[in-house]
Amino acid sequence: MFAAKVYRQRREDLRRRMDAGLILFLGNSESPVNFADNCYPFRQDSCFLYYWGLDRPDLAALIDVDAGGEILFGDDLDSVAQVWTGPQTPLAEQAEAVAVNTVQPLAALAPKLEQARVAGRPIHVLPPYRDRHRLILARLFDLSPEAVEMQVSEPLLAIIIAQRSTKTAAEIAEIEAALAVTREMHIDAMAAVRPGCPEYKIAARLRGRCYAAGAAELAFAPILTSSGEVLHNPHHHQTLQNGQLVLNDSGAVSRRHYASDITRTFPVSGRFSQKQAEIYTIVLDAQLRAIELLRPGIAFREVHLAAMERIATGMVGLGLMRGDPVEIVAKGAHALFMPHGLGHMLGLDVHDMENLGEDRVGYSNAVPRSDQFGLSALRLGRELAEGFVVTVEPGLYFIPALIAQWRKEGRFSEHIRYDRLDAYVDFGGIRIEDDLHITATAARVLGPPIPKTISDVEAACAQ
Ligand code: GLY
Repeated sequence: MFAAKVYRQRREDLRRRMDAGLILFLGNSESPVNFADNCYPFRQDSCFLYYWGLDRPDLAALIDVDAGGEILFGDDLDSVAQVWTGPQTPLAEQAEAVAVNTVQPLAALAPKLEQARVAGRPIHVLPPYRDRHRLILARLFDLSPEAVEMQVSEPLLAIIIAQRSTKTAAEIAEIEAALAVTREMHIDAMAAVRPGCPEYKIAARLRGRCYAAGAAELAFAPILTSSGEVLHNPHHHQTLQNGQLVLNDSGAVSRRHYASDITRTFPVSGRFSQKQAEIYTIVLDAQLRAIELLRPGIAFREVHLAAMERIATGMVGLGLMRGDPVEIVAKGAHALFMPHGLGHMLGLDVHDMENLGEDRVGYSNAVPRSDQFGLSALRLGRELAEGFVVTVEPGLYFIPALIAQWRKEGRFSEHIRYDRLDAYVDFGGIRIEDDLHITATAARVLGPPIPKTISDVEAACAQ
């Protein structure tokens, strides 16, 4: 938890910017794996963490915008429950630590909301991403669960997104604490990789490094695979072979739940082949170009497109594409090899605030989302501002099914040298990702350096 005044200030800022009504926050509950008492690790809702700081299940909170009151709803465990959980700090004491004076039992929430509803007061709610919240909201508004999104409060979302987008120095320190652990995870993976080693052994080391460092959790299920062309590959069942690349996209979270998200790609043999080095160099060039361009006021879509032009230039240079890189990118032909976006916001969530709506967070009236393949997958297009934290993660992938489909359709055959792609059928994929803090004039790579140049990666693999 941060100091009590941090949470009080966040809630006061929110209340001052809202017009009227009640703001409802629903904390998360335990989420069962296969029966009620066997649960996934508990993760508090990120908005709840941001405004109320309390990291325990079954809480809710209300802010009365008109009267200025705040109520935390929850129940203390009785002594029988505490036989299983151990002693628990009383909720009133926890509330004090986040500057909340009024605590009521959870059962008091529904009548309060009903009273407000009957009185015609606006009740501002966030979009649910868990079914339990969807059901609570459906009951509250007397709607079917599917219709709950109609009640989502756009003014509330806009203010929360504005607040959470700008990270304070304390939040940056949290992300950097997470990155210190993430660095260990990545360096350890580079040093451990060997031909004949199963992917799961490296994945297990990553997880071990994370937990042994006291990090609260991983920010997401690690992508640790020799099939890096599968963008969100969750499997670790293959045995690593000489000549392959390993793509490691993983990150720890800090004790206060701030995320980190780093990708490195390295050779199983410890040495990049010439072909691998050529592709790696293109990706690294695109990443460095993007980082160079980051600054307040620039649209992230512009940075994405500039990085894609470097990708296209490199692929033309290698003879895998032909034509003018600007035209290639304008048409979206490069997306055969780079079908995802350059990056996303990072904070309490690895895709920060994505539950509030990807377009609400990542786009604006000035920068609407494209529907072109590749560009449509860009999660963040809007203008950047000082204090944002974003990832920059270009890649190059040889995806057999996509290549086969485009080739069959003759798609962009004026730009894509399909005849030369057979030699890359087993290549896999390369992605290079860092986390960037937008400063007053530019951007800073967060966290301690993690090997990234070809020579540094090879040196780390040789350790
Ligand atoms: N690093 C995983 C993702 O951004 O989806």
